[in-house]
Amino acid sequence: MAASAALTWICLLSISAAYISAAELEGGDFPAFKHDDPFDRFDYSFGPYGPANWGRLRGDWRTCSDGLSQSPMAMENGMMVLDPSLGPLRAEYKTANATIVNVGRSIQVWWPGAGSLIIGNTTYYIKDIDFHTPSEHTLGLFNDRFPLEMHMVHRSKNHQKIAVIAILFTFGAEDKFLAQFFNRLPPLSTKNQVFNLGEISARHLTVPLGQHYGRYTGSETHPPCNEGVLWTVVHYEGHTVSMDQLVKLKQVIESDNARPLQASNGRKFNFV
Ligand SMILES: *[C@@H]1O[C@H](CO)[C@@H](O)[C@H](O)[C@H]1NC(C)=O
Ligand SMILES: *[C@@H]1O[C@H](CO)[C@@H](O)[C@H](O)[C@H]1NC(C)=O
Repeated sequence: MAASAALTWICLLSISAAYISAAELEGGDFPAFKHDDPFDRFDYSFGPYGPANWGRLRGDWRTCSDGLSQSPMAMENGMMVLDPSLGPLRAEYKTANATIVNVGRSIQVWWPGAGSLIIGNTTYYIKDIDFHTPSEHTLGLFNDRFPLEMHMVHRSKNHQKIAVIAILFTFGAEDKFLAQFFNRLPPLSTKNQVFNLGEISARHLTVPLGQHYGRYTGSETHPPCNEGVLWTVVHYEGHTVSMDQLVKLKQVIESDNARPLQASNGRKFNFV
């Protein structure tokens, strides 16, 4: 009895820790734990926990099936609207300490304090980076998926608004930004353990120079699938990942982790 009460407490504590860290995280903080919530189980399979069922797994995940502006979306001709008023991407990053955690379905790198992205009059601060293979956003008439998509997740000061830069990689030379930590990806056996990476440099992150990108309003690509996420998809800038780097990632995550394409419901990609 006492043991089960204690266990309940541990579960409750870990759940509240997961929410507190997400809601109250300030500029330079790292979350103590993010994915130790026993009720947040989902995966990328065709089974009961797969994308087709995410919206049924929890009441607060219903948006995954009911939402009308979900991500990812296909970038194909009929969807693209040239919009020069978007202007160059206003992002600036700098060297900052990072931590890394294998959450099973992806690798997350927490990199708070490393810079920001300005869209309209709002400044969004980078919090974390995660990886999807193959890519979630697709390009062209045949919905081609790229081997790798990197999500740089930013939040506004009050944490209410999310802006994500998605970088699509083709195969080629190894990426020097990723090379800083792809040799140190934590194995699956260390799931949810947080490791210090030390300083991660922004020197090889070529996004701030990016003049070409697509912009649309969508959602998180995983539960709870919250909407109102401002997406900036970069695919013209010659980002390449080596086969060796991709294999390293695939070796440590549970499975491929691309959510299927979602209905556009009339949304377009604005691009420059
Ligand atoms: C990273 O952490 C170390 C140790 O705490 C500290 O000395 C260093 O200044 C930090 N680097 C940055 C860029 O904040
Ligand atoms: C940004 O702020 C300026 C000055 O306050 C205002 O004129 C402009 O309409 C704002 N732009 C947006 C996109 O909110």
